[in-house]
Amino acid sequence: MSKSSYKYEGDPEDLVRTASVPRGSPLFANPARVRGDWYALGKSHQLKSGSVSSFFVGSKKIALWRGSDGGLIAQDPACPHTGADLSQGQVIGNSLRCSFHHWRFDGGGRCIEAPTCELPPDRRLRCYQTEERWGLMWVFLGRTFRALPDGHESLTKVILTPARSIRAHPHVVIGNGFDISHLGPVHRMELLGEVSCEQDHEHGLTLKYEAQFTQRYKRVLTGSTGKGLSVTFMSDGGSFALLTVTKPFLFQTVFTARPKTTGGTDTQLAFLLPPGRPDRWIRAMLALTFLLADDKKILDTIEFSPGWVPSDAVLRKFSRVVNSE
Ligand code: FES
Ligand SMILES: [Fe+2]
Repeated sequence: MSKSSYKYEGDPEDLVRTASVPRGSPLFANPARVRGDWYALGKSHQLKSGSVSSFFVGSKKIALWRGSDGGLIAQDPACPHTGADLSQGQVIGNSLRCSFHHWRFDGGGRCIEAPTCELPPDRRLRCYQTEERWGLMWVFLGRTFRALPDGHESLTKVILTPARSIRAHPHVVIGNGFDISHLGPVHRMELLGEVSCEQDHEHGLTLKYEAQFTQRYKRVLTGSTGKGLSVTFMSDGGSFALLTVTKPFLFQTVFTARPKTTGGTDTQLAFLLPPGRPDRWIRAMLALTFLLADDKKILDTIEFSPGWVPSDAVLRKFSRVVNSE
């Protein structure tokens, strides 16, 4: 599994709050705010060396470019000269040139050439940490860096699903994995034992449970007859989750959830699978296909407005972790 990263040198700043939104407004499922999390921006092969593009995380626009050394650079798109959109510029070697007056910036955001000045002015672009993992380009928008969680080292086969849209906010989409009480009504699953939910760190929650499909055809097709499923669902922030199934066999699924500009979620799954076992690839993807198909009509029509009751405790805990930034 290939993995590379780029570290920026500028001072970290709080880059993620929308200026017009009061700081006190809750983050959870709030389309007006963007949490300081990891976001998947698309497949790595979509951005070739020497090209630049723009991506949105909610209302926040990011210029993303790849220099001749292959490194992935994420920066604010407004040129610090007069504000031209740098994602309309050109990548030259390992720098990005603004189309308007040809100022040029390096991967650390420094202005290294300005034909309209005697010397390059001391202007900087805001830069964001990037990573390429599981065939996807990732950007981190947080104030204090935290690493993108790792998958299990033995699961070296990666299969990406096509990107798709969901109408619900990313926090509601990821929160679905913490909504224990919908497993029966929506997924026809029964819990087989105790449920545990721990907050691992300031931004992360881990839920563990064992469950079984009550419909026989789903048990047969997923290979879980007689064994049930051992499930761990771990979040990092509000837009990333890692599902780990250890029984009937080990596989993982990375859930990505990026807020769309117009509301809703752009999502893509990465299956992390045992190499050389296509039978297990099919069973793992079938299990998730069943679950996501069940959820789709709920998540495409919900107007999220929580009226919490005690059985919502785990989902409520997730919302508190998301809100605590
Ligand atoms: S606006 Fe970018 S160089 Fe002038
Ligand atoms: Fe669900």
